[in-house]
Amino acid sequence: MKELIQRAAQDLVSSKYAIALTGAGMSTESGIPDFRGPSGIWTKDPEAEKRAYLSYEKFKEDPKEYWEERLSRPSSMLGDLGKMEPNPGHHALTKLQKMNILRWIITQNIDNLHRKAGSKNVLEYHGNAFRLRCVSCNSRYDPEEYDLKKLKEERKLPPYCKECKGAVKSDVVYFGEPIPSDVAHQSLEEAWRCDLMLICGTSAVVYPFANLPIIARQKRVEKEGKTDTGLFFVEKIPGVIIIEVNAEPTPLTGEGISDYLIQGKTGEILPKIVEEVEKTRSTG
Ligand code: APR
Repeated sequence: MKELIQRAAQDLVSSKYAIALTGAGMSTESGIPDFRGPSGIWTKDPEAEKRAYLSYEKFKEDPKEYWEERLSRPSSMLGDLGKMEPNPGHHALTKLQKMNILRWIITQNIDNLHRKAGSKNVLEYHGNAFRLRCVSCNSRYDPEEYDLKKLKEERKLPPYCKECKGAVKSDVVYFGEPIPSDVAHQSLEEAWRCDLMLICGTSAVVYPFANLPIIARQKRVEKEGKTDTGLFFVEKIPGVIIIEVNAEPTPLTGEGISDYLIQGKTGEILPKIVEEVEKTRSTG
């Protein structure tokens, strides 16, 4: 483990444009259950996953009913997210961003914990539970920008977009719902542009997010070489290093998409990697 942590620190220090991809495993040490881990939400209640597949259809069929139901039920199935705090794993990624090593974080998590940890440049691939979004023009709103209680009392739901009058829903991306085009496009750009991808706490089974490491793996760069007879040649070599930090191997590990897996808890491993990066940088 120590060698892999030192290797990851070295790879990060040598990288020119590192990005992180994160999943629910980042937040379990903050008290938020993941989905497919041993005590995940879907693991414990497969019916809940099937119901989750209906949410987007329900919204499209009857946005008013969707809102009536949403305003009458308690907080999210993930618990009271507002009370959750970032853990050392989130803070470690924020530190790597402050060192200008990590450029972007593309997260599947809707819990806002990367932002709460002070991270900038966060792409919320599956949205943010604390925001609303217009499905027509992608305008995002703070729920406080609408008097939802009054709209419900006056039977004037759903809230409409202040820009284009489209229907507004939770910013959370439901199964079957397209990834908001602005986030989708930039995530593809970042996956192609990076020369290091640090994948933390995801089972990497949900698409299209799980495509991003596969796209990065396609990247090749030219490298000049010299034969022992002194002839110069150019060869194409992989243009990215993909590192996984996860409690268990994933398809990315098994299919050789990632170069190596550091197996364990993100909240323990990421701070150790940052410590090694700081040591490497201080010794020049
Ligand atoms: N440290 C490292 N890995 C962890 C930790 C931890 N503390 N806790 C859990 N894990 C691992 C689990 O073993 C699992 O491999 O993180 C992974 C979490 O996988 P999932 O529960 O499938 O979560 P995620 O990959 O984010 O799911 C993707 O599925 O249901 C949808 O929209 C939902 O965004 C979610 C998407």
